[in-house]
Amino acid sequence: MSRSPEVTLADVDQAMADRLLQLAKRDASPDEVAPPLGGPGWNLERTAWFYGYHSAAAAGLDGPAAEKSWAVFRGPEIAGSVRLKRTPGTGIPSAETGIWLGRSFRSQGIGGAALDLVLAEARRAGLLRITARTLAGNLGAQRLLTSAGAALTHDDDGTVLAVVEL
Ligand SMILES: CC(C)(COP(=O)(O)OP(=O)(O)OC[C@H]1O[C@@H](n2cnc3c(N)ncnc32)[C@H](O)[C@@H]1OP(=O)(O)O)[C@@H](O)C(=O)NCCC(=O)NCCS
Repeated sequence: MSRSPEVTLADVDQAMADRLLQLAKRDASPDEVAPPLGGPGWNLERTAWFYGYHSAAAAGLDGPAAEKSWAVFRGPEIAGSVRLKRTPGTGIPSAETGIWLGRSFRSQGIGGAALDLVLAEARRAGLLRITARTLAGNLGAQRLLTSAGAALTHDDDGTVLAVVEL
């Protein structure tokens, strides 16, 4: 699949978090974007988690949360979000990543381009290994990660661990 040349990453401040939540509400499942808190839909708990998460991640990989999030743009349009979080204790500088796109932005190469950009950010930060965990049934995510060079391991709990050595 050809990579979209227009994909960029932007830092997430309060105004950008508002835009991401609007996108998530109109164009994604809440479970693709946030943990299953407080029952279905964008209830108060899930919404509070969303803003708290992006606010903590604004301090970046070297901040207290050791995490950074970005908004993914296709040209001028906000398309989704991608993140990195340091994973200590593995012996080499590592982080986990996660990504979600609005439904209307999927299967157009945007996820692949955004992952390439976040891997470049990881290299700039001196990281040597990136991991991601997804459900065994999420073939789109597994294909995306394999295309970025990940080795996949299927675990007994129905999840798949993807590891990219940078
Ligand atoms: C997973 C996700 C980020 C993929 O992004 P995307 O922009 O749709 O992916 P791309 O178009 O860049 O495709 C990347 C690769 O996956 C393949 N792919 C995409 N969607 C697929 C699907 N539903 N089933 C199988 N393969 C799929 C593409 O063919 C492409 O393969 P290639 O590089 O060999 O050509 C997106 O579908 C999404 O946001 N899903 C919901 C949230 C989620 O599951 N996040 C992942 C959690 S780890």
